[in-house]
Amino acid sequence: KEHLETEEIGQEILCFDSIDSTNNYCKKIAKDAVHGTVVISEEQTVGRGRLGRNWSSPKGEGIWMSIVLKPSIPPTEGMKMTQIAAASVCKAIREITDVEAYIKWPNDIVVGGKKVCGILTEMAGELHKIDYLIVGMGINVNNQEFPEEFQGIATSLTIQKGKKIDRKTLILCILKTFEELYQHYICQGTLEKTLEIIRLYSAVLGKTIRIIKGEEEIKGKVLEINDEGLLKVQLEDGRQEMLISGEISIRSE
Ligand code: BTN
Repeated sequence: KEHLETEEIGQEILCFDSIDSTNNYCKKIAKDAVHGTVVISEEQTVGRGRLGRNWSSPKGEGIWMSIVLKPSIPPTEGMKMTQIAAASVCKAIREITDVEAYIKWPNDIVVGGKKVCGILTEMAGELHKIDYLIVGMGINVNNQEFPEEFQGIATSLTIQKGKKIDRKTLILCILKTFEELYQHYICQGTLEKTLEIIRLYSAVLGKTIRIIKGEEEIKGKVLEINDEGLLKVQLEDGRQEMLISGEISIRSE
């Protein structure tokens, strides 16, 4: 904590050796937790991914971290936190490790087409007001190998870089960047700074992607990431559609 350069994110940091899931723990303490509380664990026994998947979180090899946020924004804005998180993780990875990380809109960070980081944002509150948000980040940092089900899909920073990465340095940089982007968004009311990064390091902009919506799968070319952070795609039949984060799953062609 002594090297932390933030004002609000990480004023309270809770570290565990082992825990079921840092997102679960945040949920338990969220009501009484101060805004910006960070929970980190060396290992998660029931790490959770999106869409009910599990998230492999072996001891000492990754960054399994969640942040509790209490902004005064409507729930419809909540998913913007995912984009702020994605942008800060991607930027921090590039700064600290030089690994060429890209953002696969809206939730993943990829290197060489394989996933190094996933983000799970969860919200609680009412129709017009959020009580709290939990932004969970899982980053494969020093993993040398992956379980069968993730082979070919996941990679780690150490595999990409060929040497061990200091997790603490990376965490400090992520929190600092996250705070910068978060404060800009809260003060200005726009995602401008975040979107600059998301567009610069986008893994999908200009590409043809497969979009999976429930049972349906369609192909489309990504035209733009608009100022709200939505993805504008041109479908094969010529129609254009705006995709909202959370409703789709994207596969590169
Ligand atoms: C995904 O890509 O499916 C999202 C993965 C999110 C994993 C992180 S690790 C820290 C936090 N705690 C969890 O149980 N999940 C998130």
